[in-house]
Amino acid sequence: DDSDVINRLKILILGILVNKMIEMVEKNMAKLWGGRFEAGLDKKTEAFGASITFDKKMARQDLKGSLAHVTMLASTGILTEQEAETIKAGIQKVEAKYEANEIDFKIEHEDIHMNMETYLHAEIGPVAGKLHTARSRNDQVATDMHLWVKDTLDETLDKLQNLREVLVNLASEHVETIMPGYTHLQHAQPISFGHHIMAYYSMLTRDAERFTFNIKHADISPLGAAALAGTTFPIDRKETAELMGFSDVYVNSIDAVSDRDFILEFLSNASLLMMHLSRLCEEIILWCSHEYKFVTLSDAFSTGSSIMPQKKNPDMAELIRGKSGRVYGNLFGLLTVMKSLPLAYNKDLQEDKEGMFDTADTILTSLDVMSGMLSTMTVNEGIMSASTEKDFSNATELADYLAAKGLPFRQAHEIVGAMVLECTKAGNYLQDVPLSRYQEVSELIEADIYDTLNSRTAVERRNSFGGTGFEQVKLQIELARTTLQQ
Ligand code: ARG
Repeated sequence: DDSDVINRLKILILGILVNKMIEMVEKNMAKLWGGRFEAGLDKKTEAFGASITFDKKMARQDLKGSLAHVTMLASTGILTEQEAETIKAGIQKVEAKYEANEIDFKIEHEDIHMNMETYLHAEIGPVAGKLHTARSRNDQVATDMHLWVKDTLDETLDKLQNLREVLVNLASEHVETIMPGYTHLQHAQPISFGHHIMAYYSMLTRDAERFTFNIKHADISPLGAAALAGTTFPIDRKETAELMGFSDVYVNSIDAVSDRDFILEFLSNASLLMMHLSRLCEEIILWCSHEYKFVTLSDAFSTGSSIMPQKKNPDMAELIRGKSGRVYGNLFGLLTVMKSLPLAYNKDLQEDKEGMFDTADTILTSLDVMSGMLSTMTVNEGIMSASTEKDFSNATELADYLAAKGLPFRQAHEIVGAMVLECTKAGNYLQDVPLSRYQEVSELIEADIYDTLNSRTAVERRNSFGGTGFEQVKLQIELARTTLQQ
């Protein structure tokens, strides 16, 4: 009868509805933000939008942030002690799984934050959903990045300290090793090889100062800014900051979620560091060449050629020089992402991570390789100093000699220039000119000129503060050692 038909229709409609609901649950409810969606995300788009393939590097930082957040949610009474304890125990279980390499990160959970929360849910059930009270992924991701940059800055400073020590040790072994100092890549004046190396120490010390300053801007907690406007819950931002080891909290919630200056500073400091390493590498490459032979790299830091059996190539120095390119590129990449970005969070900001990770990997390994390469390098002292014996790098000595005896320097310069030209034509050097000829040129020149023209003497006598004189180089090394001990 009629009511039977109606009942069957009802059952049919109910069946269709249930099917539809199951479909919806399958497609959308798997997403933590799925509530307002009817259709699932396109598969390619899902992968395009996901960041888990790279932000999984911040798993530890993400868990640390969650632990601090839930502790605060209990101490402010936003969650009960019981709820917080359950969530904490769950986070610790997820952490143990992560450390045991048992976590399988999934693209469908988009990023590290939602992957971790999904794992937490699997451990403790629906109460896991309370963790995200008074928090947004926007302040969460900013927090993770601050923690990650802080850790990376510490590691960078450690490796930088190590390389600076290697440089100081190398310099201290070569205070009295003479080499040609260059300008325009032409022999200019003889210098101490230790002095040359200490120039790089000075550059890297400024790098260390810049990375140290970088900590100030990384060491601020954005947590509690929520999406951008703060929250109605009575949170305690100082408490979470303290629990995570931050010295301060962001004063403006909009700035907190959209600031990436601390990363740009890291990328910029890394670029300067790579520029310095690249300059040193360029010199090492030149010094290894047949034309110089100033240094020999250890086999452990060189490679051969697959066709030319005689080759020993300074590949690692070339690679560090080459890798400066990607580090500069990462800086420009992020500067371009940030340019014109309206406040506050925009998905563009997800592009802040890969370049940062890549830069960190690059500088940390470059610092290690550089330290190893320099500490095992042989300096061919004899070849280095001999190259200052058949050149005109002592011309300034002759000019200074005349000026010290009262001749105006400009006039002395003119006389020595003429002598250099005369020698060039004769195919000899200033130290080969007989005293009789010198005395025709100027009565001021006496027999002690030959000692003055000696490159070792020339270096030793440059005792002005910061100069290449042995005493000055020793002083620099002493100062550096004191700095390194602090
Ligand atoms: N994966 C995101 C990122 O790295 C996390 C923040 C997402 N926030 C959002 N409103 N979609 O930037």
